[in-house]
Amino acid sequence: MNEHEGPPGGDPGRPGRRGRPGPPVLPGDDPASIAIAADRLRAGGLVVFPTETVYGLGANALDARAVARIFAAKHRPRFDPLIVHLADASAVGMYATEDDAGDPRVARLAARFWPGPLTLVLRKRAIIPGLVTAGLATVGLRVPDHPVARALIRAAGVPLAAPSANRFGLLSPTRAAHVVAGLGARVDLVLDGGPCTVGVESTVILLAAGRAALLRPGGLALEAIEAEIGPLEILVDGAPGTAELAPGRTGAHYAPRVPLWLADPRDPGAAPAFVVAPGERVGLLAASRAGQALAEAAGGPFVATEVLDPDGDLVGAAARLFEALHALQEAGLARIIAEPVPEVGLGRAVMDRLRRAARDVAAGQ
Ligand code: TXA
Ligand code: MG
Repeated sequence: MNEHEGPPGGDPGRPGRRGRPGPPVLPGDDPASIAIAADRLRAGGLVVFPTETVYGLGANALDARAVARIFAAKHRPRFDPLIVHLADASAVGMYATEDDAGDPRVARLAARFWPGPLTLVLRKRAIIPGLVTAGLATVGLRVPDHPVARALIRAAGVPLAAPSANRFGLLSPTRAAHVVAGLGARVDLVLDGGPCTVGVESTVILLAAGRAALLRPGGLALEAIEAEIGPLEILVDGAPGTAELAPGRTGAHYAPRVPLWLADPRDPGAAPAFVVAPGERVGLLAASRAGQALAEAAGGPFVATEVLDPDGDLVGAAARLFEALHALQEAGLARIIAEPVPEVGLGRAVMDRLRRAARDVAAGQ
């Protein structure tokens, strides 16, 4: 656990970024905090809670007014569909249609991977407000694997709609401190559960109406899902039908506030990216120690360096990705050079986030 701020009841004066007052931060492992947070949620409030992937900005998913506050707090320019978090898989039948909830693939994936970093998109029941799903006929459901998240959902007695607890388009938070700096007093309460262990958002797959498609690579490897239910269509980035089926996956996402260049130190064509002008403050996001050495041989010096995993392990890289980007973002840099990782296992999610960060900067967003 991290250090915590104040007694239950919280310290509303904790400063956020640029001295703005921050929200109360309570220790997530204290039952008294869970009880306070659950009350806030039932009263229509916004509570940030830890999950194993990233911190979520939660509201009662059955209360459209509370859900509307999520969009305001995130400064989301439009309504993207939100993931609904459940305490356990037995609740799927309450929110998904009988056909989809009864799909044997759902039972199979739930038994194997829930709680965990997997979101299943299924046709929704009417009890889920249209605002949660951005008007879609489907809803994303997930059982998070974090004791604080599950205790909170149980205590609240309602499912929680929760996007990542960052301002729209910026980096996802993997620590309570990231949330406080990014969202400040726009939320009612933050539960601190320490650093997130998976570190990238859940893998989102569409199983509605008998389909099987990957909508977002994430913290559960595609290979693991395919081993259970067979091959998936890949509906990521520009594949036909992606815009309608995976809204919220286009446009600015995951962008650090500093320009990010994706460049492989093994690629002679990328060599100019590693050349640092006199006085230019450049940071390096290396995938491994070996990548760091190659990048330093290709150019530099780099005033700040983050290594995702010493040995280039992809699970370790995913776990450190947002944390490393947050650290580089705070280092006063003119640009960040990021080394690509292999696109297998969790490397798909890491590359998806890095490409979006690089592209959004290139697009000037
Ligand atoms: O790990 C995670 O998934 C985190 C934690 C907090 O659970 N949540 C998260 O939520 O990443 P958010 O709002 O940042 O991303 C949700 C994405 C949407 O942008 C969309 O791509 C997909 O999930 N999604 C949700 N519901 C969907 C639906 N009905 N149809 C298609 N895609 C959906
Ligand atoms: Mg997000």
